[in-house]
Amino acid sequence: MSPKVLITRNIPDTGMDLLKESNFECIINDADLPIRRRELETLIAEVDGLIAMLNDRIDAPLLERAPSLKVVANLAAGIDNIDISACTGRGIAVTNTPGVLTEATADLTFALILAAARRVIEADHYLREGRFNGWDPLLFRGTSLQGKTLGIIGMGRIGQAVAKRALAFNMKITYFKRSPLPAEVAARLKAEYHPLDDLVKNADFLSLHLPYTPGVHHLINSKRLDMMKPGAYLINTARGALVDEKSLVKHLRAGKIAGAALDVFEHEPLLAPGLADLDNVTLLPHLGSATAETRSAMARMAAESVCCILAGEKPENILNPQVFEQKSGF
Ligand code: GLV
Ligand code: GLV
Repeated sequence: MSPKVLITRNIPDTGMDLLKESNFECIINDADLPIRRRELETLIAEVDGLIAMLNDRIDAPLLERAPSLKVVANLAAGIDNIDISACTGRGIAVTNTPGVLTEATADLTFALILAAARRVIEADHYLREGRFNGWDPLLFRGTSLQGKTLGIIGMGRIGQAVAKRALAFNMKITYFKRSPLPAEVAARLKAEYHPLDDLVKNADFLSLHLPYTPGVHHLINSKRLDMMKPGAYLINTARGALVDEKSLVKHLRAGKIAGAALDVFEHEPLLAPGLADLDNVTLLPHLGSATAETRSAMARMAAESVCCILAGEKPENILNPQVFEQKSGF
């Protein structure tokens, strides 16, 4: 009998073709909505592999219903939706899609920095509303990037790719990371290490690039928003729950910071009350990795991970290699 793989949402053909070539029986949620928990609980019972989306919660109660599951391949770099230790406890391998989405996510971060600094979305709306009366020296004056300080929190692959772009814009680059970068990497990026609060106080643009864990829940809370410069912008392309959105709305409403540009939200797809009513925010529906090239690469990588693990091999992007040590073969 061919192994069964559940794919919880339509993914690019690069992934599906590989699964089909490998003769897996594919079960796909092809509704144009995230899979319902109930449906996931039912379908998981009969599959050997799962390609999960970042909004599918893969937790211990779900895994209890999955006697034959051997691999969860998350179609994302972030893995905060997965209880990895519960997977490890059941000998289930977990993979993500690191690396392939670094440049796309850094590009989108810069799209947001520029959109916020130059009021791109606000100005587009103004024009479409028929309010443009001809060139005006005072119209939509934004903020120059040149010479401004970018504060990067989380300096992994994506943070570093953002720093590279910022260099070309002649920005000053500061960063915070639990373990500072090797000196030669920091020197190449001209990135200066700062303790977290110091970084928050001095940034003109504060951009988040760290993974979400409960330890960094609401890292950007009311206290840190208070520390930010009145002219500063908050950019988030990482995970929504890194920011206390209620406090953010208050700060934006009161003009305590200049603006925010957000691609991720704590309770996606819901937005914090009041957020969408503000002019000084740019909001995107979680598009960090959304280029055709990147999504195809992610789909291929997730499918390859499933193939590899169901063939008893250990892929490089495995997050709990212990499962291979625990078991001698599947
Ligand atoms: C997207 O948010 C990802 O983690 O890949
Ligand atoms: C993403 O893959 C990162 O490590 O930043």
